[in-house]
Amino acid sequence: MGLIIMSSFDFSFSSKARRIKEPPISALMRWAVEEKDLISLAAGLVDYESLPAEESLTVLREILEDRKKAPLVLQYGTNEGLLALREHILSRWHRREGIGPSFSGLSTRNVVITTGSQQLLYLVAEALLDPGDIVIIGAPSYFVFMGALESAGAQTLSVPLDARGLRTDILAEKLEGLKKEGNLSRLKMIYVASYYQNPTGISLIPERRRELVDVVRRLRAEQPILILEDAAYRELRYEEEEAPSIKALDEGNKLVAMAGTFSKAFAPGIRTGYAFLPDPLVEPILNLKANHDFGSANINQHLVLSALESGLYDKHLKALRARYKEKRDAMLEALEKNLSDRAQWEVPGGGLYVWVSFPAEIETGPESLLFQKAKEKGMLYVPGEFAYGPDVEPLPKNHIRLSFGSPTTGEIREGVRRLSLALDEVPSKKKAGKKVAARRS
Ligand SMILES: Cc1ncc(COP(=O)(O)O)c(C=O)c1O
Repeated sequence: MGLIIMSSFDFSFSSKARRIKEPPISALMRWAVEEKDLISLAAGLVDYESLPAEESLTVLREILEDRKKAPLVLQYGTNEGLLALREHILSRWHRREGIGPSFSGLSTRNVVITTGSQQLLYLVAEALLDPGDIVIIGAPSYFVFMGALESAGAQTLSVPLDARGLRTDILAEKLEGLKKEGNLSRLKMIYVASYYQNPTGISLIPERRRELVDVVRRLRAEQPILILEDAAYRELRYEEEEAPSIKALDEGNKLVAMAGTFSKAFAPGIRTGYAFLPDPLVEPILNLKANHDFGSANINQHLVLSALESGLYDKHLKALRARYKEKRDAMLEALEKNLSDRAQWEVPGGGLYVWVSFPAEIETGPESLLFQKAKEKGMLYVPGEFAYGPDVEPLPKNHIRLSFGSPTTGEIREGVRRLSLALDEVPSKKKAGKKVAARRS
């Protein structure tokens, strides 16, 4: 898991390539694929059985049987993406938020289709960051994005999360601190996963969303800072209430870039995401995207558009929510049954993850006894320490991320049981049977 070994080649690599490390999760993915008996509660994959094969077949057949349309969808599309899809996404979003373009300041010009939302995260980092620049992230945070920040040479400044999301009071203190040190000009953006965050499943409460926007708005005259809102899991909601997006609070489209995706609610294999961008970001992002791929897969955009227009997407989403809720509940029940006296967790209102915290002396890292024992018993989890920026000290080592996305309910139950068997073999200061109350949000 160290630096990619490059010295055996004769090439002289760029400083960027030299900064890039193998993502810590790669080894977990490899094991999950190679060792068939392992139950992986580690992978962030989506549910296999409900992937919309039928829906995709229906839509693609219709598109490809249309002799006029077929060559158009198989041709290159545009760099910014299919106009009709961008229109549909934007008007759907306005309806959902209960606002219109006169408030949001958004037109289709501000909407870009991307190759997964991951591409947008990367492009924003590429557009804004030079080595030494600072990005505020949550602690914990989405580790793949941290990889992009590292390759850009950016420094992370981590703000802790509690059950209600990013601690905006601590954020305000950190901003004050940067100002005092004379480092505010190095701060380029604040990255926030607003719904059912990866890895914790925690959402930012509405009050803090407003505080976040307000604090960045107030700083604007001194230093323009972008809020990068990652709304990847928004559609995977299992409770009734839904907060407005941070983007919806950004009157006039000044402060927030939002990344959305069809990966979680439809299919990650189509690699189709979208961005809402403030005006000044549109051109740089499009120019960089043109260097990457000059447009995301055209046929997939037509597939998504037809699924949205025909209502197949919403029908699928409704069934998907019910399915994931069942899986989430299976995981929570299994945790309650096997670990209630030895761990704590939040109940995620959506998304694909449960973040489990053990007493401080139980280490969970890739070299830890718990990890080795869990692997021996045939289960994998993601060590929580992967999800903290390098600035976090001391590194919290007693958390894990469990995913209920791709395993079946049976595998979820068995995976958690195996985890508890592994934990049985890890010495703990806590006497067995002593109840640590599970926190509930
Ligand atoms: C928080 C978060 N953001 C973004 C992504 C990227 O997803 P995609 O590129 O498939 O849209 C993921 C994928 O797991 C994620 O967990």
